[in-house]
Amino acid sequence: NLPQQVTIIEVGPRDGLQNEKLFVPTAVKKQFISGLKNAGLKEMELTSFVSPKWVPQMGDAAEIVAECLNPNERNIVLAPNRKGIDRVYMTDCKAVAVFVGVSNTFNQKNINKTTKDSMEELRPIIRELKEKEYFVRACISTSFYCPYEGKISETDTIQLCREFVAAGVDELSVADTIGMAAPTEAYPLFSQLKALFPETLLTAHFHDTRKLALANILASLQAGIDRFDTSAGGLGGCPFAPGAAGNAATEDVVYMLDRMGIQTGVDLQKLVAAIEIVRPHLSRTIDSGYYRLSAQS
Ligand code: HMG
Ligand code: MG
Repeated sequence: NLPQQVTIIEVGPRDGLQNEKLFVPTAVKKQFISGLKNAGLKEMELTSFVSPKWVPQMGDAAEIVAECLNPNERNIVLAPNRKGIDRVYMTDCKAVAVFVGVSNTFNQKNINKTTKDSMEELRPIIRELKEKEYFVRACISTSFYCPYEGKISETDTIQLCREFVAAGVDELSVADTIGMAAPTEAYPLFSQLKALFPETLLTAHFHDTRKLALANILASLQAGIDRFDTSAGGLGGCPFAPGAAGNAATEDVVYMLDRMGIQTGVDLQKLVAAIEIVRPHLSRTIDSGYYRLSAQS
């Protein structure tokens, strides 16, 4: 009983680029985003309104939104705090992702606050966003493992999800930040989240550090998940999570789903063309299986 259709949330322009040390010119980002949209990726994280001192790559967030926002698609921007939300309010974007780590140490390294303090700051912000009819997504980092604290308990992850659902979010994006989860951990966690939060959109966000992302996606599909965050070219990684390699590559995930007869609405050839736009500006090579094969032919 796998789904017939899956929604891909493209996180390449945000998660994919935030870890790139050299600044990718804003004009290139815009072309990349437009290429991804042209490939059929309608839900997308465009950028993040974080501190440009912490993440200089995202310093052009306002410009990206001004140029790339399509009000008919779910174009999401990240914001970690009040200052970020106030910057979002200056734009026409109506979909926001907040982000918190289950692991306190990770949250401190990433947002300079304890998880509890982040939640206290975010609760009224989420209420306010919902009053203003924004779409609100909560990204839950270190849901399985933390680079500083090791194994994270399922109970703690479920508890944080519960707090976000109570706060009123529309979507939970549950992340394996450093790509350490096994399918035997992904399946039970997502099965429980599905049963506990039937009214909330549930999305899985797997980093592919140990090449387990596709296996985890299959396990999550079996647990009833039909929304996945992926990144074109398998780019990505959080600057404050050492060892976090890229996300599951959109093209590999779409290829697998295509082969399984599951629809995504994504055109693989156009997706490869979008990757080609950004590739010359990256410090890393693209090593997704689908991309490598298509580059050879
Ligand atoms: P801080 O230094 O504690 O903040 O950073 P502060 O409130 O003390 O402010 C310091 C300075 O930053 C001030 O400027 C503020 O105005 C400014 P100054 O007075 O010194 O000139 N500032 C801001 N500027 C722009 N936008 C803002 C903002 N906030 C403060 N929103 C802060 C705290 C949260 C800002 C910082 O830690 C930060 O930006 N962190 C973001 C880190 C990040 O982007 N991480 C990657 C995204 S999360 C991720 O990748 C995981 C995910 O993919 C899921 C997964 O895989 O796990 C989602
Ligand atoms: Mg991530």
